[in-house]
Order: sequence, then C-alpha cells, then structure tokens
Amino acid sequence: MTTAETPQHIAIIMDGNGRWAQSRGLPRVVGHRAGAAAIRPVLERAEQLGVKVLTLYSFSSENWNRPTAEVDALMALCCEKLAQERAGLIESGIRLRRIGSRTGLPAEVLRELDITEAATAGGRNITLALALNYGSRGEITDALRAIATRVAAGEITAAQVTEDLVSSSLYTSDLPDPDLLIRTGGQMRLSNYLLWQLSYAEILFSNTLWPDFSPDDLCAAVDDFAHRKRTFGGIATETSAQSIPVGSHCVEQGGLS
Ligand code: IPE
Ligand code: IPE
Ligand code: MG
Repeated sequence: MTTAETPQHIAIIMDGNGRWAQSRGLPRVVGHRAGAAAIRPVLERAEQLGVKVLTLYSFSSENWNRPTAEVDALMALCCEKLAQERAGLIESGIRLRRIGSRTGLPAEVLRELDITEAATAGGRNITLALALNYGSRGEITDALRAIATRVAAGEITAAQVTEDLVSSSLYTSDLPDPDLLIRTGGQMRLSNYLLWQLSYAEILFSNTLWPDFSPDDLCAAVDDFAHRKRTFGGIATETSAQSIPVGSHCVEQGGLS
C-alpha cells in the first residue's frame, strides 16, 4: 500500500547490537550477527508499505575506532551476508546501493559490494542503500573539494554553486532526501549520518535495540510519520494527516517502546 503519507525514503541508524549481546552475556559480535538477521524482515515490510528507499547505517567512518577484532568481525559479516543474500535480492527486485567512502574498506568487502550492486542494478521494487564506511562530514568535504576543483578549472563559476549542485555532488546524488529517520537503541544523536540530507526529515527515536526491531515496529513508525504535520518552515494547514486512522499502516500494531 502506498499513500501520500508513506515515507518514500526511510533512513535508519541501526544502533544497539552491542548492548543486545552484552545484556545476554554474549560477545558484542553475536549482537552484530543478530542485527544483520533483523534487516531482511524490515526491508521486506518497507517494500510492502510502498517505501522506495531504505538507507541503513551499517558502519560509520568513526567505527574504525573500535577494537580491531570487532571491526574485522563486522567486515567479515558484511562479506558473508552480501554473498548469502545476493540471489534473494535479485529475485525480490531489490537494488543495492553502497554509500560511503571506498578508502579503507577491505578489498573483499568492496568486491562483494561491487558484485552485488552490479547484479541488482535492475531492481525496481525498493533500493537498499548501505551506508558503509560512511561519515557525513567526510561526504560534504569530498563534495566541496570536487566543486572547488571545478570552479578552479573554470568549468563552473562560484555563482553556479547551488544547493542542487551540492546535493548532486554527494554520495546520495541519485536518491531522494529521507522523509523519516529512525534511530534505534535509545541514543538521541545523529552520529555523523546524512547531515545535509536529513534537513527536513521527521525523526523518531526508539528505545528498542536494533536486533529486536521488528517489521511491526517499522509499521508503527510509518504510522507515526503519517500523523506528523510537516511544515517545511511554513505554517500548519488542515491536512489529511488528521483524518488518517491510527494504525492504518499496520495490520498488527507493534507499537514503539
Ligand atoms: C550498531 O550497534 C552497529 C554498529 C555501529 C556497527 P552498536 O555496536 O553501536 O551497539 P551498541 O550501541 O554498542 O549497543
Ligand atoms: C552509529 O552508531 C553508527 C551505526 C549504527 C553504524 P554508533 O554506536 O557508532 O554511534 P555513537 O558512538 O553512539 O554515536
Ligand atoms: Mg552504538
């Protein structure tokens, strides 16, 4: 189902894997594995709801600061999951897109990403954008450097540096801005995620740890979004948002905690 109130692009900060594992007396990496397993059902529900892009924060440019063993386990998990899921993504018409810097990512990870991106390029049902080795400040800096180079070369003038040009110089050039940001795991911060693109996103913080985040939680978030009044700096007018029955996006109400 797609309604005018369905967010076209949902961005998620999948936080809480480590605490999920630690609260069970398990190593953090077990939490990452459980977190990876939580992705597919949420992605499928997003597609059913009519969401066109789901962007998942999978590894930040600051996550290199973690112990080497955890970083290595995350990279290995990424390779394993891409190889395992590729055929299913193709079959389900899901297009995979990588956003982030290639610099620093292990060759095997880049290889799996490149193969999966190429193999799923024809997917039309939903785009899964994986933010991997992603940092928003680095992204904006790279974009500004590319634009400055073009100005210095006389290719464009300073007056031609517009918001549209900046947007189209980011990793996300072919993606719409997110309508809804969900951060799981209880922290209320952006952690260097999509700082430019989230300018007018609705934000929802959930206390649920990512491995426990279910398709019904996604439904509840989409339903919450449908009842927000987005004014984009203008003033509120009577919108259809008020007439949408609560729970209209959810067959079963999961509810956000
Ligand atoms: C998010 O979960 C996953 C990554 C950053 C890779 P965390 O590993 O940050 O989990 P917590 O926040 O420590 O519980
Ligand atoms: C953000 O979570 C990055 C990802 C979910 C991949 P972090 O756990 O790394 O962020 P902080 O340290 O809480 O800001
Ligand atoms: Mg965290």
